[in-house]
Amino acid sequence: MGYTSFIGPIAQLIPMTGLPAKGSLSDSKLKIIPSAGIYIKNGIIEEVADYKEMSKRISSAVTRLVLDKNYVCLPGFIDAHTHICFAGSRASDYAKRNAGKTYLEIAAEGGGIWDTVTQTRKATKKELVEGILKRAQSHLQNGVTTIEIKSGYGLTVEEELKMLEAIKEASQEFPSDFIPTCLAAHMPPKDFKGEASAYLKMISETLFPLIKERQLTNRIDAFIEQGAFTQDEIRPYLKKAKEYGFDITIHADQFSTGGSEVAVQFEALSADHLEASTSKEIEILAKSNVISMALPGASLGLGCHFTPARKILDAGGSLAIASDHNPGSAPMGDLLTQAAILGSMEKLSNTEVLAGITFRAAAALNLQDRGIIAKDYKADLVLFPVENVNEILYRQGGLKPHMVFKDGQLVYQKNKA
Ligand code: NIG
Ligand code: FE
Repeated sequence: MGYTSFIGPIAQLIPMTGLPAKGSLSDSKLKIIPSAGIYIKNGIIEEVADYKEMSKRISSAVTRLVLDKNYVCLPGFIDAHTHICFAGSRASDYAKRNAGKTYLEIAAEGGGIWDTVTQTRKATKKELVEGILKRAQSHLQNGVTTIEIKSGYGLTVEEELKMLEAIKEASQEFPSDFIPTCLAAHMPPKDFKGEASAYLKMISETLFPLIKERQLTNRIDAFIEQGAFTQDEIRPYLKKAKEYGFDITIHADQFSTGGSEVAVQFEALSADHLEASTSKEIEILAKSNVISMALPGASLGLGCHFTPARKILDAGGSLAIASDHNPGSAPMGDLLTQAAILGSMEKLSNTEVLAGITFRAAAALNLQDRGIIAKDYKADLVLFPVENVNEILYRQGGLKPHMVFKDGQLVYQKNKA
């Protein structure tokens, strides 16, 4: 039983409706409903229309939330790529990188992903749950109501299960929706006795049936890169994942190309990173149904160039934007700030940026019930204390949400937390 209420008047309601799934988006196509009301029934949007007109006919028995200031309302943001289940800090990696070492050099010296694997294995499940809840709360306060969370710092059957169970337990204690993903193919574990392909075979034969049976996730991710897995190593793994009916997503083209080609071949939902993609990769992605996912937080954390988002959209591709929040390459974890910066650096329209963190991000997670404010969608809403939608990205994350609703429930209000 969800929440029922009538909210308004909202100075500008941005429904994100009527926009195509793929390709560039002009701001002239962004629909704005002035002085809007939203009628929410059992956590689902029942109606969006003119506030005054609605208030005359909506039963006085329905709880009303009358807004006495101006707000812009957007769909709750969807962060479709994070690694917020982890223990430890990699502040020393960050310092070393800024002092001149590369991500791959630091990894080779024992830093990088393997360092977080060591820390995460030492943590109890309870400690992991606490870390997830703390980070999810800060995402919620920044307007994120759906958050994808990957495993991938366990890298044994047991430790990957611990991470996925921690994500599930945290999800039961938190209003936002957590979408779990198994990233056991994050890197070949340094303590596995055998080749990378033998590790992947073991994971697909042992872990896949367990996560399926225990309903821990329906998504499989893999990192295709030097120091992680090659295209040839990953193909049999993804084939097995497909046989089990898992959705696929790929860490692709971060430092070198190859991952996006595999993503297209296996009809992945998304290919994420793409900082190294060239016109060839952009073309094959744009022709496919694979959503390109830019992770500006990783570019900022690593001090490298951004995903060619403008070129992807101009080629006709779909673009989602996610935070990649993780202890190594993307420690900031502020989706709106990062999306705004990507917009400025890549010359994206505000509509393209907002689409990337709402309905296009929902599509990347195969979720059809959110990312849009319209009848029958989830009442996941974020309200900013401004009169005009353009103020939000202009403030580059400096402007914070005043209220956040999840399934119709007010789950965050500034200064009342
Ligand atoms: O998306 N690229 C690989 N995986 C993560 C980094 C994780 C880490 O450094 O701990 C990423 O950037
Ligand atoms: Fe990642």
